[in-house]
Amino acid sequence: MADNYEQIKDQINHLSEQLDQYNYEYYVLDNPTISDEKFDFLLKKLENLEDIYPQFKTPFSPTQRVGGQILKGFKHVTHKYPMLSLGNTYNKKEIAEFVKRAENAVSIYKKDLQWVCELKYDGLAISLTYINGILTQATTRGNGIVGDDVTANVKTIKSIPLKLKGKDYPAEFEIRGEVIFPHKAFEEFNKIRIENSEEPFANPRNAASGSLKLLNPAEVAKRKLDCFLYFLLCNEEEPLNKLSHYDKLLKAKSWGFNISQYMTLAKNIDEIIKFIEHWDTARKNLPFDIDGIVIKLNDSSLWNNLGTTAKSPRWATAFKFKAERSSSILESIEFNVGRTGIVTPVANFKSVWLGGTWVKRATLHNEEQMKKLNIRIGDEVFIEKGGEIIPKIVAINHLPDNHNKEFEFISTCPQCNTPLIKEKDNAGYYCPNYNHCKPQILGRFEHFISKKAMNIDSLGGSKMKMLLETGLVSDFADLYSLTTDKLIGLVVSEKDSQITIQEKGAANIINGLKQSLNVPFERVLFALGIRMVGEVVAKKLAHHYKTIDNLMVANSLDLINVNDIGETIAQNIISYFSNSENKVLIEKLKACKLHFEVEENIITGNSLAGKSFVVSGIFNNYSRDEIKNTIEQNGGKIVSGISSKVDYLVCGEKMGEEKKRKAEILNVKMITEEEFNQML
Ligand code: IVH
Repeated sequence: MADNYEQIKDQINHLSEQLDQYNYEYYVLDNPTISDEKFDFLLKKLENLEDIYPQFKTPFSPTQRVGGQILKGFKHVTHKYPMLSLGNTYNKKEIAEFVKRAENAVSIYKKDLQWVCELKYDGLAISLTYINGILTQATTRGNGIVGDDVTANVKTIKSIPLKLKGKDYPAEFEIRGEVIFPHKAFEEFNKIRIENSEEPFANPRNAASGSLKLLNPAEVAKRKLDCFLYFLLCNEEEPLNKLSHYDKLLKAKSWGFNISQYMTLAKNIDEIIKFIEHWDTARKNLPFDIDGIVIKLNDSSLWNNLGTTAKSPRWATAFKFKAERSSSILESIEFNVGRTGIVTPVANFKSVWLGGTWVKRATLHNEEQMKKLNIRIGDEVFIEKGGEIIPKIVAINHLPDNHNKEFEFISTCPQCNTPLIKEKDNAGYYCPNYNHCKPQILGRFEHFISKKAMNIDSLGGSKMKMLLETGLVSDFADLYSLTTDKLIGLVVSEKDSQITIQEKGAANIINGLKQSLNVPFERVLFALGIRMVGEVVAKKLAHHYKTIDNLMVANSLDLINVNDIGETIAQNIISYFSNSENKVLIEKLKACKLHFEVEENIITGNSLAGKSFVVSGIFNNYSRDEIKNTIEQNGGKIVSGISSKVDYLVCGEKMGEEKKRKAEILNVKMITEEEFNQML
């Protein structure tokens, strides 16, 4: 029997090693040697063996990369070595000065220095700790001193080794690098988000950073992130420390880390500038974003002599590239009306390739910007992608043979013809036809159902549009009188197809609406879409006034006394509540039982994220509704019946016997009210 166990253990080890090697070949060397099917087959085999013999499952098994349990939050970790950032400049002359300063400072120790030139990856910095060759911790940069422990999420990144190859690594070391979202994976991911009516991420950097902060590692595993490593740290007495920075990274490469193939040694400033200039153009062909070049003194024994400034080392710096820019010919200008009525001019031009995608529209911001550019159809326009998802026109070139006139900003709403009004403290115009301008109405409904507002994700943008077009819904309150009967059979036009709502879809929508009745006052207030009342302002107002009735009668002076509420916001609030249609709407929504008062009793947070609960019986400190609200406001989900998928049954006095019996059979954890409180 013992022999048999040994054999199984060997088999598990062998399979793990094989899979590690295939992973490495695929994700690090970019050179797969087996088919995906064969890989999946071996992985499944390993999973099955580990299920039967959990005693042989290791935390570094390749099966750990799919993401396990949902996390409650991230532990804060103090970095053993602070995570410094780099000084940076857009100016090559300043790079030359930096190099000269460093070389002068160490010239008494060494001449003829070498500089390592590296790509500056545009992602999220990460620090990985390896003990005896096993990945034990992954931490974000945080404030440089304390970061978040994101180990479970990082383990899902296939190019990061969970266990190192070779043997000559220090018993304990840290390696730092950048988690990035490669273009192809990012585009696929955003496409799916758009299809699901979710807000797409502005750029790969934001998406990478948002991904590592997810509480569900299985979700992170789906996102195909990658990671390049560029900095190795260990105790001073380690023999590894005798090596130069470049050689340390080569060593790291031999242990299985993804080290850039583009890292180069430069002997002088001319060679550094050559590297910079090469990548300023060549970066357009890279399958991921870089935002500059990093240079580091190769001889790391001199780093201590040079020291650091408050935030960054004197032995390394970064050259940053200017934002990528393309040009095209302006074909037309249209005007978009957003949910708050703001009118934005949008330029349409011949498609151009910019930052990894084809672009044919860009924002012109507002009238002021249009005037500044003196823009005319037929002009050459220069387009940049900044941090925002929407590209912008940053400059134009009047072509000599273009005799078109300067394009004028419109004076009436392109959708409802109402004369536009100029915003007070702003350069923008808006359409004041709040209650009857179509794109404003649809925009407001999209805002109302969005995640941070009422969170009715069973109703996407196209369903909402259909409900408005069919006249089934004309204000927010109408949503709450929908029934499955009214919904079944309705046809929703998606991008390229038409979908008929079936029983299940209808029930989903109704259920989503029902659940939204638990959304707290501050989010209901945000959901109303009052101009300039964003999440933060809504929260402040809700906590200050406690009820909508108090808020509705507040005067300007009163409102300005609330922290951070300025005159313009105050005016917007007053004008919203003085509109009789809005007053009627609030009354209707009250009748639908939305929350218009702060519930002092309820703690909010995300400690129950991803967990599902069944509630049964009577509780000491909560009414039935309060406990349900508490669960939802802490990220948990309420389910009506016990099944094996339920995480907890919260047991009150006189709870249902049937529920208890079922929970026992299905092994659902039963908790008391006190235990529930402790989870919050
Ligand atoms: S070295 C002490 N090398 O840029 C030196 N950083 O502001 C530590 N980055 O926080 C950083 N590519 O997130 C280094 N090849 C590279 C890099 C790089 C991207 C990021 C990193 C850092 C920031 C500097």
